[in-house]
Amino acid sequence: MMTFIDYQKFVTQLNDWNHAYHVLNTPLVSDSEYDTEFRQLQSIEHENPDWLIPESPTQRVGDIVNSAFKKITHDVKMLSLSNVFSIDETIDFFVKAAKELAIPLAELDIFSESKLDGLAISLRYENGFLRYAATRGDGQIGEDVTHNIKTIQSIPLKLNAENPPKILDVRGEVFMIKAIFEQLNHLAQVQNSRLFVNPRNAAAGTIRQLNPKITAERALQFIPYGMGAYSGEIAFSRHSEILAYLVKLGFKSNQNNHNFSANKMAFEQDYQRMEILRESLPMEIDGIVYKIDSLNLQGKLGFISRSPKWAVARKFPAQIMITTLLDVDFQVGRTGVLTPVARLEPVFVGGVTVSNATLHNMDEIERLNLCIGDKVEIHRAGDVIPKIVKVVSEGKARQTIVMPDQCPVCNSRVKRIENQAAFRCSGGLACGAQIAERIKYYASRNCMNIRQLGSKVIEILCEKNVLTSVAGIYRLQRNDITNLEGQGEKNATKILAAIEASKKTEFSTFLAALGIPEVGESGAKNLARYFKVLEKLRAAEIEALVQVPDVGEITAGNVRAFFDDATNNQLVDDLLATGVTWDAHKIVEDLQPLTGETWVLTGTLNSPRNEIKVKLEQLGAKVSGSVSAKTTVVLVGEAAGSKLTQAEKFGVKILNEAQFLELMKSYEN
Ligand code: IVH
Repeated sequence: MMTFIDYQKFVTQLNDWNHAYHVLNTPLVSDSEYDTEFRQLQSIEHENPDWLIPESPTQRVGDIVNSAFKKITHDVKMLSLSNVFSIDETIDFFVKAAKELAIPLAELDIFSESKLDGLAISLRYENGFLRYAATRGDGQIGEDVTHNIKTIQSIPLKLNAENPPKILDVRGEVFMIKAIFEQLNHLAQVQNSRLFVNPRNAAAGTIRQLNPKITAERALQFIPYGMGAYSGEIAFSRHSEILAYLVKLGFKSNQNNHNFSANKMAFEQDYQRMEILRESLPMEIDGIVYKIDSLNLQGKLGFISRSPKWAVARKFPAQIMITTLLDVDFQVGRTGVLTPVARLEPVFVGGVTVSNATLHNMDEIERLNLCIGDKVEIHRAGDVIPKIVKVVSEGKARQTIVMPDQCPVCNSRVKRIENQAAFRCSGGLACGAQIAERIKYYASRNCMNIRQLGSKVIEILCEKNVLTSVAGIYRLQRNDITNLEGQGEKNATKILAAIEASKKTEFSTFLAALGIPEVGESGAKNLARYFKVLEKLRAAEIEALVQVPDVGEITAGNVRAFFDDATNNQLVDDLLATGVTWDAHKIVEDLQPLTGETWVLTGTLNSPRNEIKVKLEQLGAKVSGSVSAKTTVVLVGEAAGSKLTQAEKFGVKILNEAQFLELMKSYEN
């Protein structure tokens, strides 16, 4: 008779085989033996449904999810890396770091890892079990992709640890190996369906699948490169220790890691080593990541905007090809700026067929001395938009590229923007291209997030003159939508509901959605925090605007110009009149995001305690001397004692100093 204990052993056995196969690349049994045992496990679970444990390998492929991807807030922000492209830039980066730390360059221990070309994922484990997985998103808020992540065999559903930490976020890259990518595209070709541009694109598309069965077939892989939030049962002093710990927990390791002390020769040798290795690797890598191994030094250096000051990516050079410039078109953007776009004779560069390239502006065309008919060199690096870098040989019948005097969309006059290389259509919101682009921007994910109202629908509604302004979104009627081809009642209901829901928003979101040039998400946040009230911002002079953190003269000028324009003011009034509102108190909370929290500091911290205390209080937190069940966070430095034990006892959230600094940084943006 099979007992529950036997069943558990069975699951462990299959998980061990899985680990050996997918993580260690050393199969312990044949595929067919595994399949037979797997089917037996399925039938045991079928007969004893209440035995089922979450780490059973049968739980990797679930049902189709029909909800859109839920948003997940990362406890510790997911950062990105700054890029360098040469040995000199690499050295400069670390010389600067060493200077800031006031230590000689050679004392920096560098940890080198290949830069996997996939997408960043954060895995949340609670008490050793995978709870959820999220994409990076904007760094702060990602999307729940747990259903697909569970299909990745190299991600343990249960960590291999006797006493796993209460909380652990494992961060790493999900990618598709080259061989699977080729198979997938081969199949797509046979079936005449859309090809993926590159393995990264294929991995990203696969992670956004609603059907985990499809994801499972595409055999994605995961390799960790760090951790996000984690509770205080674990502590490390080096990045390399973190990676070794993750391997112990059951994760795959990035095979080509390397440790050396910082000096020019070592960096160059390491780069050459990886450049040679690159071709033979099963996955695409687009560069090397160099990290300072000491977590103490990492903590001291901190971050600048979205990237750490202790790590940098040295990217492999762009791939180069030569082709012919066939023509140049002018595209009208959201703010009316006309961008020249090169139409090229299609050419295959780094696995992608390229037939367009942006030329940025007329100065760039002049600088390149570019004419239609010329043979040009184009570069493409990873995800970067292809770029024309030079004319290789002039065409026989060279045709000069000229900026049209009339907008190709609305025929209004095109004027050069004062002191800038850009030209703009003067049609403003009377220009069809600008209206559609403005509406798309307003409804986009990082603005009002009316996702159900897609770009195509907006374009058609604008073409048909049903939508003629941004505020028109809120006046759309049911039959405006059902009259469109392919849009039934169900879709109309969804779209209208999403539009209605978007009316309740936040001041900063609304500001960002207005599309003021140079005012993005973080600029809008700063403006909202500073002015708190729309009318104050509307009336603000340049002198007041430049007082706002990160707002320079150009942005200030754009904000002033935006609100000096009658059409824009009318639009803002219209939007408010249709019922767009926000909670004015939210902004104050935003200013003091830690309101209601009680923090306790313990152990030896690098920053002066008093400084930390003042900072926390400024953000609205109370700082207390003793830990209780009511404590929100305990900030632990080195050699922490009883307070840490207390925090663990009460299950209070624990942060180390590096995590704390990262959190503080996130409030500055
Ligand atoms: S470290 C705080 N290490 O590259 C630093 N990133 O361009 C966080 N990536 O978002 C990143 N391989 O998705 C790190 N060995 C590696 C990596 C790596 C690939 C990706 C990651 C990150 C992006 C930044």
